[in-house]
Amino acid sequence: MTKTHRIALIPGDGIGTEVVPAARKVLDVVSERHGIELTYTEFDWSCERYLREGAMMPDDGMERLREHDAILLGAVGYPGVPDHVSLWGLLIPIRRSFRQYVNLRPIRVFEGVPSPLRTAAAGEVDFVIVRENVEGEYSQVGGRLYQGFPEEVAIQEAIFTRAGVTRILDYAFDLAARRGGRLTSATKSNGIVHTMPFWDELVAERAIHHPGVTWDQEHIDALAAKFVLQPGRFDVVVGSNLFGDILSDLAAAIAGSIGIAPSANLNPEREFPSMFEPVHGSAPDIAGRGIANPLGTVWSAALMLDHLGHPRAASDITDAIATVLAKGATITPDLGGSATTDELTEALIQAL
Ligand code: NAI
Ligand code: MG
Repeated sequence: MTKTHRIALIPGDGIGTEVVPAARKVLDVVSERHGIELTYTEFDWSCERYLREGAMMPDDGMERLREHDAILLGAVGYPGVPDHVSLWGLLIPIRRSFRQYVNLRPIRVFEGVPSPLRTAAAGEVDFVIVRENVEGEYSQVGGRLYQGFPEEVAIQEAIFTRAGVTRILDYAFDLAARRGGRLTSATKSNGIVHTMPFWDELVAERAIHHPGVTWDQEHIDALAAKFVLQPGRFDVVVGSNLFGDILSDLAAAIAGSIGIAPSANLNPEREFPSMFEPVHGSAPDIAGRGIANPLGTVWSAALMLDHLGHPRAASDITDAIATVLAKGATITPDLGGSATTDELTEALIQAL
């Protein structure tokens, strides 16, 4: 008996509406091959909906998503709609109410995709950033006083809880144990004297429970430099919400194109659906031209299949991505080629 997985598709805005259908075509081929049953519900939640109806999603949006096993999202963002509307009106509610406390961002330098770094050769750079996704520096706690007066003050509190830090560290240690056995923790306990020493103590504490993993910690500034100088030395890197956010954009740039970078927002306990989305945004500068790189979304769809319990189907997809990039004949303009989204998608399907 095969279990049917219910997938919510939220293409969103701009190139989101181009790359999600591409990923769906790839999923159709792979799921057929592996006997995986997927059913889809498509939602038009987006900034365009916000402009039409005054909200990114309907009032019962979260309940409707709740009935699904996973969410595949393109990107949201539309000129004229402030970015905090799309973020706090859709993405953050999904991440927080569904307790997607792990943000997973794999980084690979593929053959055929030149990295801007001479030290980053294909195959040598293959690591994962694990970002805490629901607390830390991105909190609503704080406020502003005396607005407009000379003594105006803004206070933004960072929230680090023992439960929240412990669960993200355990996730990262477990992942490192399944990969190369090495974990690097991003810290800044020399300058941030309350939350970061707490984070470091918990890293040392959790390390005892994961004896098979070698670990170290680096201050975030030095770590940023090492990402550039020695990107090949990393396996799993764990960081707080802010540190993980910055490091993962840096890492996507090291890998040669933001169009390829995938991400997963995971609820590891599977009490709620997890969400999979490319790292890039809605790219209004190229939207509607049919030239968006679909690989970030396709790779995100592979992470989704892995999460749903189909690792072999997932690796078929990443192998096809590597094959098409190595051939280099059918790549989109962001990678230096002239292929369209459809042509690159077709090449992936051939490679499968
Ligand atoms: P962006 O990622 O949309 O675009 C940055 C640059 O990369 C652009 O030149 C774009 O053409 C290029 N690019 C991005 N993805 C590409 C792809 N798949 N293929 C080829 N080229 C690609 O970031 P930007 O311009 O800062 O933001 C545009 C809008 O997207 C904003 O409204 C922003 O808020 C939103 N955004 C949404 C995100 C999400 O939904 N998670 C994440 C980042 C931005
Ligand atoms: Mg970011």
